Amino acid sequence: MQTSETARLTIGTNNYDFPVVQATTGEKAIDISKLRAQTGYTTIDDGLANTAACTSEITYIDGEKGILEYRGIPIETLAENSTFIETAYLIIYGNLPTRKQMSDFSQKVLRNASLHEAMMHFFDGGFPFTAHPMAILSAMLNSVGCYYPHMVTNHREQDLEHFNDAAALLLSKVRTIAAMAYRMKNGLPMIYPKRDLGYSQNFLHMMFTEPYHEYYPHDDITKALDLILLLHGDHEQNCSTSTVRVVASSGANLFSSVSAGVCALWGPLHGGANQQVIQMLEKIHQSGGDVDAFIAGAKKGDYRLMGFGHRLYKTYDPRAKILRESAEKVLQVVKLKDPLLDIAQRLEEKARADSYFIDRNLYPNVDFYSGLILKAIGIPVDMFTVMFAIGRMPGWIAHWYEVASQTKGRITRPRQIYTGYERRDYIKMRNRDGENSSDYESDEHKSLGGGSSENASARA
Ligand code: ACO
Repeated sequence: MQTSETARLTIGTNNYDFPVVQATTGEKAIDISKLRAQTGYTTIDDGLANTAACTSEITYIDGEKGILEYRGIPIETLAENSTFIETAYLIIYGNLPTRKQMSDFSQKVLRNASLHEAMMHFFDGGFPFTAHPMAILSAMLNSVGCYYPHMVTNHREQDLEHFNDAAALLLSKVRTIAAMAYRMKNGLPMIYPKRDLGYSQNFLHMMFTEPYHEYYPHDDITKALDLILLLHGDHEQNCSTSTVRVVASSGANLFSSVSAGVCALWGPLHGGANQQVIQMLEKIHQSGGDVDAFIAGAKKGDYRLMGFGHRLYKTYDPRAKILRESAEKVLQVVKLKDPLLDIAQRLEEKARADSYFIDRNLYPNVDFYSGLILKAIGIPVDMFTVMFAIGRMPGWIAHWYEVASQTKGRITRPRQIYTGYERRDYIKMRNRDGENSSDYESDEHKSLGGGSSENASARA
């Protein structure tokens, strides 16, 4: 909201005043929306680290204090009392559901669990077995929309009319697609969702049931998975959510927008880090468990300590704290003595006592312990980021809605500082390499490799 304060910018002898806005929680920002119009200048902000790209009512983070709240409710409270589906409702609709709202929402999610039978053909030779499940997930989420054309009109008002159905549908189908991607990759028969199972239990059923052998997860395993999903529910303007918002700002539908979010999440500096953490821990284990030597390499800049550091948190990521405890519990339940947990804990201990990590405020983030839990549950490493995507779906949906329902929303279109060539001449082909070739050779002739030695070298 607007304050009575202004911020003064002086360029040469000219002064410009800009409004100061304030968040509900007190932080202030200088509103430079009119900067270029008033001064002719733009700003540059590498990685947008100092730029609030929007206003939002969904999630609050105080990275210095390690606070994370969804719609005003601390993550620790939700982790202790809520479920993924209830928290998804809170994130998407802004309030905790009443009993009736919760029941309606859960039913809607449940009813949408199956895929259109025609979509099953994608899993029957539509992707190679080597395909990464994140690629499958992104493609399939975009494709789901094709089966519900009334929800993907790319006309704001019409898409919004069907928002409630589309939100429940995506929340449900992302889980089914994820499980089916796993089964396809492993040559396993498809297992359909069941009507009498809760969200996380249904996912485990689709992952691990065999045709003649029903899988019944231990309650603590189902709860641990549900907790991971809940903790990933939203995280304000992270890379994938910003991507969803950018795509949504063009007027694109919900399905395409979240599909783009999956692509952004896949990167190793974002959601892909949970996969990299386990690979890193395994590497340390295989080379004899020398944590000090590994830390020394990270300090030299040879590689990064995956699962450490965060753009916002300058203290312990509150989600990592909850997951550290959960990892210990899950490993007890499955009666697994995973040497990687010990390596992770030693790595954390050493890094937190080391000035390199202290000076840069590098603490474990959400990805540091989540992989150990997923591994103990039996989720393969290449599915880790997919699990993140299932958890992040409520956040992406809520952010899409926030953008789509703005009456005065503008398309996201940043400026740049151009650092390329100044204007220069077009040099004709014959003058570029001193050859005697014709300038009027047709494009088709060139692409077929006709004639010139230039084409011969391009083919070589
Ligand atoms: N290991 C070693 N050094 C690190 C690490 C790390 N994990 N993270 C940051 N640093 C160092 C950088 O080398 C840099 O050092 P310098 O000042 O001497 O050059 C300094 O800390 C600041 O790093 P930046 O890259 O500027 O920090 P930024 O905020 O841009 O990046 C990020 C945050 C991407 C999360 C980073 O910490 C990182 O790469 N971590 C490892 C990957 C990871 O765990 N990603 C998951 C993030 S959580 C999520 O997306 C769900």
